[in-house]
Amino acid sequence: MAELLVATSLEKVYGEGEIATRALKDVSFTLEQGEFASIVGQSGSGKSTLLNLLGLLDTPTSGSVRYEGTDTALLAKKDRAVLRNGLLGFVFQFHYLLPEFSVWENLTMPAAIRGQTIDAAEKDRAFETLALLGLDGLGDKNANALSGGQKQRVAIGRALMNRPKLILADEPTGNLDTTNTEAVYKLFREINAELGTTFLIVTHDRRIAQQTDRILEVLDGELVQDVRNEYLAPKG
Ligand SMILES: Nc1ncnc2c1ncn2[C@@H]1O[C@H](COP(=O)(O)OP(=O)(O)O)[C@@H](O)[C@H]1O
Ligand SMILES: [Mg+2]
Repeated sequence: MAELLVATSLEKVYGEGEIATRALKDVSFTLEQGEFASIVGQSGSGKSTLLNLLGLLDTPTSGSVRYEGTDTALLAKKDRAVLRNGLLGFVFQFHYLLPEFSVWENLTMPAAIRGQTIDAAEKDRAFETLALLGLDGLGDKNANALSGGQKQRVAIGRALMNRPKLILADEPTGNLDTTNTEAVYKLFREINAELGTTFLIVTHDRRIAQQTDRILEVLDGELVQDVRNEYLAPKG
């Protein structure tokens, strides 16, 4: 497997002086292409901070984030955005769909905002994505007419539209019931198998984490455990 992401000695301090919070302390790990991994830890332990640094949504106080050998700190802001748009997809606890727009429009909106023309290839990708999500035929529906589970599926589809190598998901099922939670993880697994997409999923649900291949545990800003899940049956 090829090395996709290398995080080295990541530190994050919010604020200064008396009110400074050391949210991350010396976090280092490597993620290979195709991995299906989770990050667990109590509320306030630094999971979202870590994911935001890895997603290039925020910059570390010190330490580095490398993607495919490129130190992201050395990139100009514009080039960092290009790398992020090309390589990464994000799924959050809340779907952030545009309620007054169709499923179809929600999928193609990020490209449109980037100034891309919605060409045949982009349309094909949207169709393929809907099929992958089990949402065929729902393209013309308004987002606000969908169920909670369907909305989160569309949000996952939107993250997949540029066929990212890595999906960063922060509590992606935090707002869903058990049935929809299971369905989302099943879908993540299918995407991982079919498209080879790497997953890094933040969750505080140990039951969910145990279904991933690797569990990274954060405690008070430190990476205290990094274990391969031995209990899973081998894939295939
Ligand atoms: N923007 C911010 N400004 C100041 N403190 C923050 C900010 N974001 C997070 N923190 C603090 O950093 C610590 C880690 O937060 P966070 O990464 O959100 O944890 P988690 O996602 O595991 O719940 C917490 O003490 C939190 O209060
Ligand atoms: Mg969080």
